[in-house]
Order: sequence, then structure tokens, then C-alpha cells
Amino acid sequence: MADGQSFPRAVVLISGRGSNMEALLRADLPVTFAAVISNRLDARGLAIARNLGVETAVVDHREHPSREDFDQALAAEIDLRAADLVILAGFMRVLTDGFVARYQGRMINIHPALLPAFPGLDTHARALAAGVKLHGCTVHFVTPEVDAGPIIAQAAVPVRDDDSVESLAARVLAQEHRLYPMAVRWLAEGRLRLTPEGRVALAGAAPNDATLIAPSD
Ligand code: GRF
Repeated sequence: MADGQSFPRAVVLISGRGSNMEALLRADLPVTFAAVISNRLDARGLAIARNLGVETAVVDHREHPSREDFDQALAAEIDLRAADLVILAGFMRVLTDGFVARYQGRMINIHPALLPAFPGLDTHARALAAGVKLHGCTVHFVTPEVDAGPIIAQAAVPVRDDDSVESLAARVLAQEHRLYPMAVRWLAEGRLRLTPEGRVALAGAAPNDATLIAPSD
């Protein structure tokens, strides 16, 4: 597999900054990154991907009148690349049930909170407002209900009394950049399985595998 030809093909979907995408593209994973696709032409991550030699495409949601139309156009771009895996990395569109079903078990997302706490937006502000002492990020399979899919791995960070949204977001983001490449590697290696009960099984756990990262810093 030295030339990477037999690696699974993945597309990464982004909407903005693309720091998780960059962590994945730089991580030396057993994956062929077939494309990075954004719903926004101004997504900063697009230039980063191109600089790293990865093809990019834009499917502008404003050019598609309905979610169904948008998702069809998006699926066409994904399937054009014969993608095995769909990796959401800060992709800010709610996906239709049909789209989710098409990539079931092959599509994962990273969310900046310890699900099932704080699904949705503004997770860091909500964590601070709630006064939780532990916060973090979650990698999960994508299912029709937003941020509710089976959990693959989580990283937990402490919340400090003097944290701002920015300081807490930065602490979580550093862990996202560790957690997501690890989970994508498992997926690429074919080691992640959804059980009939809707739980996640990780085959052949190696010493470096950590479905929970809990740094003490
Ligand atoms: C990350 O916090 C991710 O967890 C969330 O959106 C943010 C995207 O950041 N889904 P980036 O574009 O990867 O820098």
C-alpha cells in the first residue's frame, strides 16, 4: 500500500476555516483525499487544501433552492470522486435524511462539545453559561438527527474559572486536531463498525488507540 493506491478515498466537507481539515490532510493517514468540498466559495480552508495539493470544489447552497437540490448537487460531487468516506469538518449545513442514508456508516463529523451535552451551535458559550467543569469534543457517525449519531471517540478538557469563549475554544480545538485524525484512521482501516444496537465497535484496539482523550493540562 506504499503508493496509497489502495487506500479508501475520502472527501472532506468544510464551510470555513478548515483547521480540522488541515489536521487531517497533514496527518499521514491511510486515506486518499479525493477532494475538499465547501458550500461557501470564501471558505478559508479551500486555499489550504489546494496548497496541500488536494483538489477542491464548491457547491454553493445559495444556488440551490431547496435542501434536496443542494444535497443532490453535493452527492454528485462526492460520487464523481468515487469517495468511500465522507468527513464533515466544520460543515455548517443540515443534511437531508436521504443524503445521510446514502453515506450511512461512511460519514462522520466532529462536534465541539461532549455530546450528548450541547448539540447545535455556540457550544463553548453554552458550556461556560452552564458552569460545566468538563468540556471537549466528540467524533460521531452522522445520522439524520443533528449531532445525535453514535459516538466514536471523545476528548475532554477542563473548564477553568477564568476561561473566555476564546480560551475554551482553543483548548478544545487543540484536542479536535488530535482526536479527528485518530478516528479517521480507524475508519480508513475498516476497524469501526456500527452494531445493530446503534453502538460503535472498534476492532483490534492498539496501545495508542484512545476512544477517550483526557489530557490533564
Ligand atoms: C470545529 O470546532 C468543529 O468541531 C466544528 O466546527 C469547527 C470547525 O473549525 N464542527 P475548523 O473549520 O475545522 O477550523
